[in-house]
Amino acid sequence: MRRVSVLRLWGRPGVRRAAVPEDRARRYGSRAPRGPDAARGARAHFTTPIFYVNAAPHIGHLYSALLADALSRRRRLLGPGAAAVRLSTGTDEHGLKIQQAAAAAGLAPLELCDRVSAQFRQLFGAAGVSSTGFLRTTEPRHRAAVRHFWGELRSRGLLRKGLYEGWYCASDECFLPEAKVTRQPGPSGEPVPVSVESGHPVSWTKEENYIFRLSQFREPLRQWLRGDPHAIAPEPFRRAVLQWLEEELPDLSVSRSRRHLHWGIPVPGDDSQTIYVWLDALVNYLTAIGYPDAEFQSWWPATSHIIGKDILKFHAIYWPALLLGAGLSPPHRIYVHSHWTVCGQKMSKSLGNVVDPRTCLERYTVDGFRYFLLRQGVPNWDCDYYDEKVVKLLDSELADALGGLLNRCTASRINPSGTYPAFCPACFPSEPGLAGPSARARADDYALVNAVAALPQQVAHHYDHFQIYKALEQVSACVRQTNGFVQRHAPWTLNWESPADAPWLGTVLHVALECLRVFGTLLQPVTPHLADKLLSRLGVSATERGLGELCFLPRFYGHACPFEGRKLGPETGLLFPRLDQSRSRLVKAHGT
Ligand code: MSP
Repeated sequence: MRRVSVLRLWGRPGVRRAAVPEDRARRYGSRAPRGPDAARGARAHFTTPIFYVNAAPHIGHLYSALLADALSRRRRLLGPGAAAVRLSTGTDEHGLKIQQAAAAAGLAPLELCDRVSAQFRQLFGAAGVSSTGFLRTTEPRHRAAVRHFWGELRSRGLLRKGLYEGWYCASDECFLPEAKVTRQPGPSGEPVPVSVESGHPVSWTKEENYIFRLSQFREPLRQWLRGDPHAIAPEPFRRAVLQWLEEELPDLSVSRSRRHLHWGIPVPGDDSQTIYVWLDALVNYLTAIGYPDAEFQSWWPATSHIIGKDILKFHAIYWPALLLGAGLSPPHRIYVHSHWTVCGQKMSKSLGNVVDPRTCLERYTVDGFRYFLLRQGVPNWDCDYYDEKVVKLLDSELADALGGLLNRCTASRINPSGTYPAFCPACFPSEPGLAGPSARARADDYALVNAVAALPQQVAHHYDHFQIYKALEQVSACVRQTNGFVQRHAPWTLNWESPADAPWLGTVLHVALECLRVFGTLLQPVTPHLADKLLSRLGVSATERGLGELCFLPRFYGHACPFEGRKLGPETGLLFPRLDQSRSRLVKAHGT
C-alpha cells in the first residue's frame, strides 16, 4: 500500500474536506471561534457518546447526555440561527463486549440491543434530552457510512495488514501494551491479568489484523492542539492529551478476526475480518449528519463532542487521527467530564450500587434531577451521589430560594393587582450620587443590580468553558442576593395606599421580578419546565425568552420596559414543591 504523509494529505488539493471556516483552515490559528457563543448564528452539532447496550442506563450516562442537552438548548436560545442546532445521541451495539453480554444473557445480540437501546431512548425522552437524532450502530445507514470511511482510509494507504499481538480488554474494547497490564488475584486466588487503568480483565490476542498507521499522526495532532487551545476542555484534559502525545504513538489495530468477533461490520472486501468497534462507533458522529452524502459538510467540523474522561484517548487521539487520515478536520470541540461515584464508591453491577436514573426522575422530578446533576457535577473531578444531597440541594435552591422568591413577589397579598409594577427612577436612581429626597435604594441594592446585570455574560463564559455547574452556582448566588434585597426592604410592611410607600413598593417588586426574569431565562437549558413555569407566571411570552432579548432592568438604565404594567401570568401553584416536607411542617407550626 502507498504511504502518504499525513501533513501532505491535510493540505493536499482535491482531498474532500468539510467546509472549514477560513480561520480554522489556517491550521487552527488563534482566531478560531472561542466557544459556542462566539460562533453565534453559525451551525452547531453537539453529540453525546453512543452508549453500550450491555447494561441498563445509569446516572453517569444521563449526566453525559444532559451536559450535551444543556449546551444545545442554550445554543438554540442564542437565535437567530437557532434552527441550525443538532444534538445527536444513540447506542453503540457492536463488539466483543455486546457479543459476550448477549451470550451470557442467552439472547441473540440484536435482541439484547433492541431491548437496551429502547431503554436509553426512553430515558432520554423522559429526561427531556432534546436530541434531533438517535442512532443505532446496527442501522444500515451506519454500516454504509463506516464502510465508506474505511474505504477513504484504505485509498490513502493508511491501512496495512499485519500480525497484531497484545492484550485485549473486552470491557474497554481496547488493546493494551504490557506496561498497562497488571495481575490481580482472581475469584479462586490465582493471578489474573487486568488493565491497570480500569481494572477490567484482559486476554492475550495474536491475530492477523488491519492496522491503521496511527504513528504518522503524532505531529499533526500536536499541531492541532497547539493551534487551537480550546479544542479540548477543561484544560487539564487537554494537557493530558498533549502528555500522551509526548510518548510514542503505536499503530492501531482496527479489525478483529471474524472467528473471535462476529458481531460487527465486516471489513469491505475481506469477510474474514470485522471492523474494530471503536472505529465503527466513532464514525457514528458522521453518520448522524448524513455522511457520506455532501450534506454532512455543513455540520462538520462544526461538531462538539461531550464525553466522559474514560474515553478521552479514543476521542482526542484516535478519532482526530482517523479524521485527518480520511481527509477531514478534527471536531470543533471535545468537552470532557469526570464520573459520578455513589456514596464514595465506583458504580458497578457487582457492588449493587448502580443508581437508576428513571427512579431519580420520578422521585425528584425531571427538572429537579436535571438541576441536581448539572449543578453538582464538576467536569474536572469525580462527584459523589447520595439521596440526601439531592433533597437538600433542591429544597434549598429550587423550592425555598427560587420558589420562595417568586411567591413573595407575585402573591396576591403583596401584589394585589397581579401586574409587573412600575419602576420609579427617583426611588432607585441610576447612580447613588444622583439620589434625591425620594431615593430609597442602598449600596447593597446597587450591588444586586450590578451582579444580576453581569450574570448573563458570566453564565455565557462558564458555558463556553464547559463549566455549567459554575453558571448555576452563580445564578443561585444571585437568587440568594435577590432574596436578601426583598428581605431588606420587607415589601409586606409597605402600603400600596400610601403615596410615600407605593412607588418604592412597586420598585422593589419590579426589581425582584426583573431578577427573576433573568434567572428564568438563564435556567431554561437546565430546567426547561420549571423555567417555563416561572417565565409564564411573570407574563414573559415565548418570543421574549431568547438570550439575545435578555435586557435586564431597562428602566434603571433609562429605557422603556415592555413588562412594566403588564398583567402577570396565571398562578399555577408552587414553582418547586419541597421534597422534605418535615421543615415546611415545622415552619407552619412555629410560624417562622
Ligand atoms: N460506547 C462507548 C462510547 C462510544 S462514543 C463513540 C462508551 N459507552 S459507555 O456506555 O460505556 O459510556 C458512555 C458515557 O457514559 C461515557 O461518556 C462515559 O464516560 C459515561 N459514563 C460511564 N460511567 C460514568 C459515571 N459513573 N459517571 C459519569 N459518566 C459516566 O464508552
